[in-house]
Amino acid sequence: MSRRPFVAGNWKMNKGPNEADALARALKAALANQSAVDVAVAPTYVALPAVTSRLKHSGIHVAAQDIHPSVSGAFTGAIGGEMVRQLGCTYTLVGHSERRSLWNEDDALINSKVHAAFRSGLLPIICIGETLSQRDGNQVEQVLGAQLAKGLEGLEADQVASLTLAYEPVWAIGTGRTASPEQAQDTHQFIRRWLSVNFPDFVSKAVRIQYGGSVKPGNAAALMAKPDVDGALVGGAALQADSFAAIVLAAVP
Ligand code: PGA
Repeated sequence: MSRRPFVAGNWKMNKGPNEADALARALKAALANQSAVDVAVAPTYVALPAVTSRLKHSGIHVAAQDIHPSVSGAFTGAIGGEMVRQLGCTYTLVGHSERRSLWNEDDALINSKVHAAFRSGLLPIICIGETLSQRDGNQVEQVLGAQLAKGLEGLEADQVASLTLAYEPVWAIGTGRTASPEQAQDTHQFIRRWLSVNFPDFVSKAVRIQYGGSVKPGNAAALMAKPDVDGALVGGAALQADSFAAIVLAAVP
């Protein structure tokens, strides 16, 4: 079964509404002729209205960077899934390593956000990954297995089949140090095998697994050529239209 490549850009806390609109406009032009790759961008919340309206009918999807597990309530400063869905988001990131480390998000909270995403009609892109000391200590499979088991708890097989996993080794994020294509493939293969042990066969065949961590135009093609690497989650290189577009085009099968 062939999975459609999926490349997403995580803009993090960069680009207010005006700059985000300009980037979205440039991406719309740069990617107007491609339809072989699913593409999404994740701007800041305040830029979502500008970006969703700019990208309407462009084929480029818009993602939130995070959602609160509740629909609404006394949660000062937080944003619910329904709210971003109303603006036209189709995806949300969940459990990005910066949320895990800077906001102390654990797998139980991440799992409640994954359920909230589905309740809101959003497809989650769930980020998992090990730290350098965990890799050096040969704990990669144990760490990822636990993140998967807890993060996916209570989901229906159909829901799991529809979501995206982003394997982002923490040591590769924003460091310029990428996993080698072989390291990425080995880890993605482990993730897919984990899915095949824990869910019916169709799930592991359908789930798209993005690689993330210092993906650039120069290394994207080799990473995404690997059979279990179905796309990329891009940070720094997603902030410029030409580099992000080059990564998207490198995913064309
Ligand atoms: P990077 O970020 O591409 O800048 O390493 C990736 C991410 O954090 O999703």
